[in-house]
Amino acid sequence: MKRFGGVVAVQGVTFDVRPQEIVALIGPNGAGKTTLFNMISGIFSPTAGEIRFAGRPIHGLSPHAIARLGLTRTFQNLQIFYHMTVLENVLVGLNVRLKTRMLAAGLRLPRVAEEERRARDMALQWLNRVGLAALADRPAATLSYGQLKLLEVARAAVSQPAMILLDEPMAGLNPAESQALVRLMLAMREEGTTFLFVEHDMEAVMTAADRIVVLDYGRMIAVGPPAEIAVHPEVIRAYLGAEIEVIAGAHPQ
Ligand SMILES: Nc1ncnc2c1ncn2[C@@H]1O[C@H](COP(=O)(O)OP(=O)(O)OP(=O)(O)O)[C@@H](O)[C@H]1O
Ligand SMILES: [Mg+2]
Repeated sequence: MKRFGGVVAVQGVTFDVRPQEIVALIGPNGAGKTTLFNMISGIFSPTAGEIRFAGRPIHGLSPHAIARLGLTRTFQNLQIFYHMTVLENVLVGLNVRLKTRMLAAGLRLPRVAEEERRARDMALQWLNRVGLAALADRPAATLSYGQLKLLEVARAAVSQPAMILLDEPMAGLNPAESQALVRLMLAMREEGTTFLFVEHDMEAVMTAADRIVVLDYGRMIAVGPPAEIAVHPEVIRAYLGAEIEVIAGAHPQ
């Protein structure tokens, strides 16, 4: 549960995400989706309730501590370092781990240089996977909005977390970019990654998600596989009924 003054943004939301599952979190604007992400990733402490990751409670831990445990995220309102290059922005996603390793290396410089080379290789590899490798040395400020969203995905993925939270990753992507991102998520799931993602693009949700959690006014009104959610009366009543029905008709499951 999360309360902001008199506003209860999230209340009575209980669900789990299984290893290698892709779960979509949907709901109208203001439903509490980002607030839930902010609690899971340690930006806000819940007012009440608990959050567990890989069996251990994580509510109250700092965002860095949670990232170190292998749970990373992207942001609906981008968190890009615009003065840095594209590659450097991805390297930020490795800093958490690098710092500890550098300390462990006892500041032996050749070893640190080796670590940095490895980090660069890893960052380039992820830029390649999101289709931005050619832009690695450009200032981040020169990228389009869609490219910046993909850059955040690379930064969240580069530390090889067990689980990634994506807050509206398709917003601002063109259809080809959006489909490529769905394919990347499905490929990463095969490699062991678990996803929880917020998305308004229902086609992406229906294609990528194993299960969908629906929030409305901070409460969870439904959870289930796409085919069930698409015909769930309360979901249709509360949210985008027509659009979901059309998509469900196009992709019978
Ligand atoms: N830091 C904050 N302080 C006060 N109120 C907040 C804060 N963050 C969110 N809220 C309120 O909590 C509610 C849920 O907002 P939230 O951003 O979680 O919605 P959302 O489901 O992500 O919406 P959208 O689809 O528009 O991104 C809203 O009423 C919002 O105004
Ligand atoms: Mg939001």
